Amino acid sequence: MAMLDVKNTKLYISYGIVGCGNMSQAFFGRLFKDNKNKQRRVIMTYTPSNTRAHELADSIGGTSVKNLKYLNHTEVICLCFKPQQLKRFLTDAREIDFSGKTIVSILAGVDLKTLKEYFPNSPIIRLMPSMPVENGQGISLISHTDDVSKKVLDELELLSSKHSMVIKLEEKLFDKLTLVTSSGPAFVYYLFASFAKSLEEAGIRKDNSKEIIHKLFLGALSMIKNDKRDVEDLIADVCSFKGVTAAGIEELGRQNVSESILGAIDKGVERSRELQSEVRSDLPNLQ
Ligand SMILES: NC(=O)c1ccc[n+]([C@@H]2O[C@H](COP(=O)([O-])OP(=O)(O)OC[C@H]3O[C@@H](n4cnc5c(N)ncnc54)[C@H](OP(=O)(O)O)[C@@H]3O)[C@@H](O)[C@H]2O)c1
Repeated sequence: MAMLDVKNTKLYISYGIVGCGNMSQAFFGRLFKDNKNKQRRVIMTYTPSNTRAHELADSIGGTSVKNLKYLNHTEVICLCFKPQQLKRFLTDAREIDFSGKTIVSILAGVDLKTLKEYFPNSPIIRLMPSMPVENGQGISLISHTDDVSKKVLDELELLSSKHSMVIKLEEKLFDKLTLVTSSGPAFVYYLFASFAKSLEEAGIRKDNSKEIIHKLFLGALSMIKNDKRDVEDLIADVCSFKGVTAAGIEELGRQNVSESILGAIDKGVERSRELQSEVRSDLPNLQ
């Protein structure tokens, strides 16, 4: 991973945030948290209904705008709506001159090539944060076109690294990594819910079972983080010969749970590709 030249990174780039739903609030709400007190940069937010744009602007010291043309006053425009909403945005954004403005897209499945076709005079950054950024524990993936300026890239990386692990990667790995780092929290919640269910079936109250399983996950993660052994060795260590854990782990093997998880990730990657073709076939012709 390239080192960041913090000294030469000039801050206070202006941002336009288009789409202020769950991910946008989690990511930019955290990214620009300090801006509210310091009011040091221009941030404009936009959503068609204005409600959530107003909420986000209020929490980060920005300004919500009712017309996209005001985004002409910003240097970076962040696309934070659903991939299916790109077509409508392209129509609504006709009054924006995108030349030279950097586009930051968090749209799942929409690749740099597609974005470059529709924003030919803009450097493009593809960003994929994960929901735990909200608590300072996220992972943010970044791929970009070659024309992105060092100033914008360094600043985005610097700000993102305060609440997430930042991974800059070749775009060909983007969809696979997205499934693990960004969809991953949902898979982990799924496992969490299964453990909690087993306690609830035994009559333990939901709030208690949540607390117990939370401690279980924290304890296991602390071992993975602090113990030098591989995860396979940690599993073996809990499984005594013909013991109760061994019986459970053998059942997971018989049920092919590991393969199921790999299959779930592959299904998600397949869906990213489908989404990309759906979005492309929906976009206006560029003739
Ligand atoms: N959820 C995740 O964990 C996650 C992780 C990484 C990336 N993402 C990506 O984040 C993006 C947003 O997902 P989300 O879960 O935050 O969606 P969401 O909660 O449904 O929010 C969508 C936002 O887009 C706005 N919007 C709708 N149509 C628009 C248009 N034509 N122009 C401008 N803004 C428009 C909506 O405005 P209103 O408020 O007026 O309805 C809303 O604020 C998706 O592309 C997704 O792939 C999500």
